[in-house]
Amino acid sequence: MARIPGRVRPRNRVRLNLERSLEMSQYKIALVAGSLRKDSYNRRLAAAVTKMAPPEFSFDPLRIDDLPLYNQDDDASSAAAVNRIKNQIRAADGLLFVTPEYNRSIPGVLKNAIDHASRPYGQSAWAGKPAGVLGASAGPAGTSMAQQHLRNILAYLDVPTMGQPEAFVRVDDNYFNAEGDITDARSKAFLQGWIIRYADWIRRFTGGH
Ligand SMILES: Cc1cc2nc3c(=O)[nH]c(=O)nc-3n(C[C@H](O)[C@H](O)[C@H](O)COP(=O)(O)O)c2cc1C
Repeated sequence: MARIPGRVRPRNRVRLNLERSLEMSQYKIALVAGSLRKDSYNRRLAAAVTKMAPPEFSFDPLRIDDLPLYNQDDDASSAAAVNRIKNQIRAADGLLFVTPEYNRSIPGVLKNAIDHASRPYGQSAWAGKPAGVLGASAGPAGTSMAQQHLRNILAYLDVPTMGQPEAFVRVDDNYFNAEGDITDARSKAFLQGWIIRYADWIRRFTGGH
């Protein structure tokens, strides 16, 4: 059969589409939100920012609301939810933390999840996974103290965390529109730049796949 230049035969088209969709989700990121609240600003921020990520990045929320309270006595027989988050973290190419600040630190639910996935000793799921940190607050300090505490924990857990740019996002009820996008053009442009830098950070640690 003669080939018509510029046309792709159906079988090749299927293969091209398959290759393209594999390329599209080349980097799997575990998204760790520090708030369980239904209308959480931080979860809305995560949705708005990840929407602006390069197409080859996919973001899967790490479910942490069904984890038991961490108890070292349970290390020998971890709950199914604990094994689930550890498997998801291990399978991920990177991590994205988006957290509120509670009483000048990270929320207890986030610390609980971090502790669970760090144990038993020597079997941490976190080690070596590249990460980025974002946070939103209605307050003027914009989660800076919480983020600093989180960076301290991540350094101990051997999680290489992007240092710059930092993002302390000040939000109110008008920050997102009905579609969940960021309304302020400057803030949106800044966060668009942030997620591009984050993507480069992840690529650096995964050898560009
Ligand atoms: C227990 C608690 C402690 C808080 N402490 C702080 C704080 O230290 N700094 C701050 O900026 N906001 C603080 N806030 C306000 C949060 O920034 C605000 O509730 C925010 O909306 C929480 O994030 P979320 O919308 O993603 O749930 C606190 C809120 C709660 C419930």
